[in-house]
Amino acid sequence: MVQFTLPTNSKVATGKAWPRPDAASNVTEFRVYRWHPDDAANPRIDTYYVDRDDCAPMVLDGLIWLKNKVDPTLTFRRSCREGVCGSCAMNVDGENTLACTKAMDDVGRAVAVYPLPHLPVVKDLVVDLTTFYAQLRSIEPWLRTETPQPQKEWRQSHADREKLDGLYECILCACCSTSCPSYWWNGERFLGPAILLQAYRWLIDSRDEATGERLDELEDPFRLYRCHHILNCAQTCPKGLNPAKAIAEVKKMMVARRV
Ligand code: SF4
Ligand code: SF4
Ligand code: FES
Repeated sequence: MVQFTLPTNSKVATGKAWPRPDAASNVTEFRVYRWHPDDAANPRIDTYYVDRDDCAPMVLDGLIWLKNKVDPTLTFRRSCREGVCGSCAMNVDGENTLACTKAMDDVGRAVAVYPLPHLPVVKDLVVDLTTFYAQLRSIEPWLRTETPQPQKEWRQSHADREKLDGLYECILCACCSTSCPSYWWNGERFLGPAILLQAYRWLIDSRDEATGERLDELEDPFRLYRCHHILNCAQTCPKGLNPAKAIAEVKKMMVARRV
């Protein structure tokens, strides 16, 4: 039987239990992953209590309340607080999601918060997205054209514009890619669901004139074909998108140009 041995410093320890807020009658427990790059300690899970009568309802509100009132060293990313920037992507209650659109009441008794899985951790809930952004750049996510720039604008019919629905809404939060087993094992070479959804968004844009080159760049056993349609990506997307379907459409385009 295969035996797996984890490096000692990857084991998560029990951390500090922070005090419950004085006189609070309505509290929610948070268990939060903590890791600091500058000390030699293993990651740990700290326990906190949020006073719900003093805090807005979302998981991100809880984290901000803790940072402001209990532990200023707690580190996480956030910006818009309304599900449009993708910064607050993290693993809440075992699922990759946006902390700002996940209600505390929709989670079990204690809110377990971890960084997005299978990415290097920078600190606490902040992960290193360098490879993810390099992969995004590699698909050239902008209009590529050869005809001269029109005087006013690139025109598109309503029907062609509708083909971008279900794609343009992607906020590049990386929840899908970090839930994909193929991306876990081949994250350096497989582009992953988020980037492939972006690739398809430009492949089917009627104004783009680089379809052949874009398909050539994806024609690779790893970049595209490591998707095995396990569908974790579609299940986890906090915007309700379906990257697996986009990937299947790219594969269909590959076949269509061969026949
Ligand atoms: S497809 Fe969904 S989960 Fe994936 S990056 Fe876009 S918004 Fe996030
Ligand atoms: S369908 Fe493809 S991209 Fe989505 S989780 Fe599965 S293997 Fe990954
Ligand atoms: S803070 Fe922008 S998506 Fe959550």
